[in-house]
Amino acid sequence: MSQHLPVQTHLSPVTTKISQLVVTHGSGSWVYTESGEKYLDFTSGIGVTNTGHSHPKVVAAIQEQATKMLHGQVNVFYTRVLIDLAEELRTIVPEHIDSFFFANSGAEATEAAVKLAKQVTKRPNIIVFQGSFHGRTHLTMGMTTSKTIYRIGYQPLPAGIFVAPFPHALRYGWDEETTIQYCIKELKHLLKSQTAPAETAAIILEPEQGEGGYVPTPPAFMKALREICDEHGILLVMDEVQTGFGRTGKWFAQDHYNVRPDVMIMAKGIASGVPMSCIAASSEMMAKWIPGSHGGTYGGNPLAAASAIATIRAMRDEHMIENAAERGAQLTTGLKALQATFPRIVEVRGFGLMVGMEFRDENGTPDAATVTALQKGCLEKKLLLLSCGTYGNVIRFIPPLVVTEEEIRNGLKIIHDVLSQIFYKN
Ligand SMILES: Cc1ncc(COP(=O)(O)O)c(C=O)c1O
Repeated sequence: MSQHLPVQTHLSPVTTKISQLVVTHGSGSWVYTESGEKYLDFTSGIGVTNTGHSHPKVVAAIQEQATKMLHGQVNVFYTRVLIDLAEELRTIVPEHIDSFFFANSGAEATEAAVKLAKQVTKRPNIIVFQGSFHGRTHLTMGMTTSKTIYRIGYQPLPAGIFVAPFPHALRYGWDEETTIQYCIKELKHLLKSQTAPAETAAIILEPEQGEGGYVPTPPAFMKALREICDEHGILLVMDEVQTGFGRTGKWFAQDHYNVRPDVMIMAKGIASGVPMSCIAASSEMMAKWIPGSHGGTYGGNPLAAASAIATIRAMRDEHMIENAAERGAQLTTGLKALQATFPRIVEVRGFGLMVGMEFRDENGTPDAATVTALQKGCLEKKLLLLSCGTYGNVIRFIPPLVVTEEEIRNGLKIIHDVLSQIFYKN
């Protein structure tokens, strides 16, 4: 029961926690506590430790780089390791994307993408989607509509951000086609009624919404977005912060669609946990970004760059992306089987190892209570799970891409046992 006792620290309580565990180290899919317990980690630092905790090849690359240089300021000189990282990234992004700018967090990269889009198009506004999560700085808070908790007490937020509906059929209670057509119509209406195309720099989208509930974008909607952007000279920006680096069973979630992004935003899994983020676009587009008009002290840090190179190589050499697809299929099949036993599970969805399981009660009302009870019960059985969704009624599964068949099986068994306890008290 130690995980429920509040830990007394001098750390700010603004950071909420799903457990009171004090962890000393991690390895692969597991974390180890000060009190000698071992937990199966299906949270991966919210989609960061895709190569598993402290992957030996990543650790070795960081150690080697640490002996050479810890900080190489990008305005002062080039570092070989960062040039090499850009080359490595080139091999995993679409052909037309060949220029990279590095920062430190997802929010920082999102801000950079918006600044790039504004200068390239010379337009002031952007469009995001209902349920989006793009970060917690003031601009990205304004772009985040997944939950009011991220805005509370901070409003008013920056202007020039417009919110369009996102086509999640379950939320509207309609069929998929009706929902997609409605959302396309509303987006076009937004461009007529609130932000004219001539004033709209970019449409920014998470290919699979993360914090908003692990909801993949329907392919027909993605296609329509590309067409609308092309018609009006609006940039299509993919926020791949959570969906990137193998998470969805492909390098990027956009690879599940036959749609070309103008700008990509990456972070989280890029460097296995060393803070790093990146935006990527064509060199023609990057050439329109006024030199000196954006930057940062730490962006492109050599330790993070070495870690990112090792991350990409380890993923490729150890077939982690293939494993994400296979283990994701195993997880989804297992969760769908649970759905047959527990009718409060109304939807299991997502690409690869980015899977959401949504709960509603018998009246169809979002059921956050079951999600909280499931998280708590799993914690007691030493399985770490996160929730998401505007109503907190979705369990999100983000195991590391190195997760084994047995670990997924064990995780599913724990979830089955806890749900049985909750609903059948046995
Ligand atoms: C899709 C997406 N974009 C942006 C962010 C912000 O990233 P960070 O927390 O590194 O600022 C997140 C974080 O969860 C995210 O999931």
